[in-house]
Amino acid sequence: MRLAIVQTSPVFGEASANVKAALNLMSSVEADLYVLPELFNTGYNFLDGREAEALSEPMDGPTFVSLAEFAREYGRYVVYGFAERGPNLYNSAALVGPSGLVGRYRKVHLFDRENLVFAPGDLGFPVFDTPVGRIGMMICFDWMYPESARTLALKGTQIIAHPANLVMPHCPDALVTRCLENRVFAATANRVGREDRGGHDLRFIGDSEVVSPRGEILVRLGDSDAGVAVSEIEPALSDDKRINDHNDLLRGRRTDCYEL
Ligand code: ACM
Repeated sequence: MRLAIVQTSPVFGEASANVKAALNLMSSVEADLYVLPELFNTGYNFLDGREAEALSEPMDGPTFVSLAEFAREYGRYVVYGFAERGPNLYNSAALVGPSGLVGRYRKVHLFDRENLVFAPGDLGFPVFDTPVGRIGMMICFDWMYPESARTLALKGTQIIAHPANLVMPHCPDALVTRCLENRVFAATANRVGREDRGGHDLRFIGDSEVVSPRGEILVRLGDSDAGVAVSEIEPALSDDKRINDHNDLLRGRRTDCYEL
């Protein structure tokens, strides 16, 4: 299957232009699954909850409609991050396919000032079985908690779709370990650019990438430009957790020795 990472450079608050720019990038390559950044339509650096609320959308809002139309017209799957207006305000990701919404995820581990803006996710880490693979989602800072990727792996995920707005430098290299220790593919779609708002100046590091269950970086984009890249992958490789004749990664866990 063909897995695309879409690295965007959104303009804060310009949702329809940001969605259009992402669709232009997506239309430039053929893939089965496209992964877009966290909050790719609105931008990231909200002044407060009220501003985020004003820019948020319900699950079936205009961003969903545009991406679902792309998915239906071309028979593709798309994962994207957005500010979800639900019972609370969530930093969410959605998976859409040719028949519409497949499922959603709400960010569990909120980063820094997101804690002032969003409610923590309340859906756990769901996994969705699709014709292009079993897809689980985590969002940006979730990478810092190994439990996120581990939970997804234990639930049978083959591809971790990872929308991100990374500002710290560690994740692109650390994801290699997440993939190795879980034997899964991961696709981190990060953004580039800078948002200097309300005395908080953030620069986003790019470096979107696809990593294999063997820890190989199959593709990595640069740190300053928007772009898109495609990796040809075999999702079933994630189902083989054997490391050698005597070690099976997940069966070898010693849950009797761990304090969780
Ligand atoms: C982040 O979680 N957006 C750093």
